Amino acid sequence: EKVVLAYSGGLDTTAIIPWLKENYDYDVVCCCIDVGQGNELDGLEERAKLSGAEKLYILNVIDEFCDDYIVPCVQAHSVYENKYLLGTSMARPLIAKKLVEIARKEGAVAICHGATGKGNDQVRFELGIKALAPDLKIIAPWRCNETWKMQSREDEIEYCHQHGIDLPFSADSSYSRDRNLWHISHEGLELEDPANEPNYDHLLVLGVTPEKAPDKAEYVTMTFEKGVPTSLNGEKMKVSEIITKLNELGGKNGIGIVDIVENRVVGMKSRGVYETPGGTILMEAHQQLEELILDRATYEVKKEMGDKFAQIVYEGKWFTPLREAIQAFIESTQEYVTGEVKFKLYKGNIIKAGTTSPYSLYSESLASFTTGELYDHHDAEGFINLFGLPLKVRAMKKLAREAE
Ligand code: ARG
Ligand code: SIN
Repeated sequence: EKVVLAYSGGLDTTAIIPWLKENYDYDVVCCCIDVGQGNELDGLEERAKLSGAEKLYILNVIDEFCDDYIVPCVQAHSVYENKYLLGTSMARPLIAKKLVEIARKEGAVAICHGATGKGNDQVRFELGIKALAPDLKIIAPWRCNETWKMQSREDEIEYCHQHGIDLPFSADSSYSRDRNLWHISHEGLELEDPANEPNYDHLLVLGVTPEKAPDKAEYVTMTFEKGVPTSLNGEKMKVSEIITKLNELGGKNGIGIVDIVENRVVGMKSRGVYETPGGTILMEAHQQLEELILDRATYEVKKEMGDKFAQIVYEGKWFTPLREAIQAFIESTQEYVTGEVKFKLYKGNIIKAGTTSPYSLYSESLASFTTGELYDHHDAEGFINLFGLPLKVRAMKKLAREAE
């Protein structure tokens, strides 16, 4: 029988290979889903085979990640607890989906992941798997107290040694990180105490702090068609290319660094630092465009839906009717979200430098101070009389009561 293992090539998931063989007698099919984690993929094949895996799949799903997961989140302005752009959260359901596809192809009976028993990722992976393949067994070694005895990197290296795996893993643990095209997350070390300032020089991977950014501002323009990013600085590009380029620009200008204490699904608070340089710019640009295009009432409801969407994504409830329904609503609001946004990037700041759209609802003649045909100042008087009627009635009643 076979098990499909969500494999990253790191020490944790490598140690799981011999552990699975020892405790379950399964053939281990490793599966590395490339969502844009970059260089972490080098030398993976060797590493998996050396560790006793029967097979390794490397699936590049970057474009699917962009089109089907990132874009809907951008359109919905999904931000968790006012700050977190959900980089890890939005990748998990896609990874779960691919693991299930490989499991079916291989006729596997189980899926195994290396998330700990204290975090959000276990929830996201497992809700995804349950929704798509309710019959598959799920194995989470970190929750198997009886058989998973390893508590530190040293333990894992020792365990690998005992099982004939001698790989050059360093024993000193760094931050707990998760990277993909959209972001990188950092947890652990000094971050575990919210009283500590993050050691940014040690921590940052995708960019620099605002202090270290260039003294000269840099312009960037982006176009959107029906809410989908289509070009950058005048050049047509795939969404994945736009994000890659924006990551460079944003990273170098100190943009998109967030330090947050967030509420995990499993009940505890946790402190993390996120770098989302390109994503921060892209979301801001999309929002900037919507300001011109959406009417007030639609914007209001969309905002609520977006917050709800963020929560759904954070909680791993991607494969649900509710997520689909909200996404359909959001999509229908994007019909006219077409146009161009220009920003100036400067030391961690995104400064507006002009927005245009053929569907803009903004009317200069209407907004300017001269009276025109469409807007008669006298109409405002009647409007205010009705709009203020409840306030006025209440105040009158109060006066009357006081006079009694
Ligand atoms: N706290 C973030 C989230 O829940 C990031 C999790 C990072 N995951 C990891 N395996 N390092 O989405
Ligand atoms: C983990 O616990 O595996 C990482 C953190 C998280 O999932 O929230």
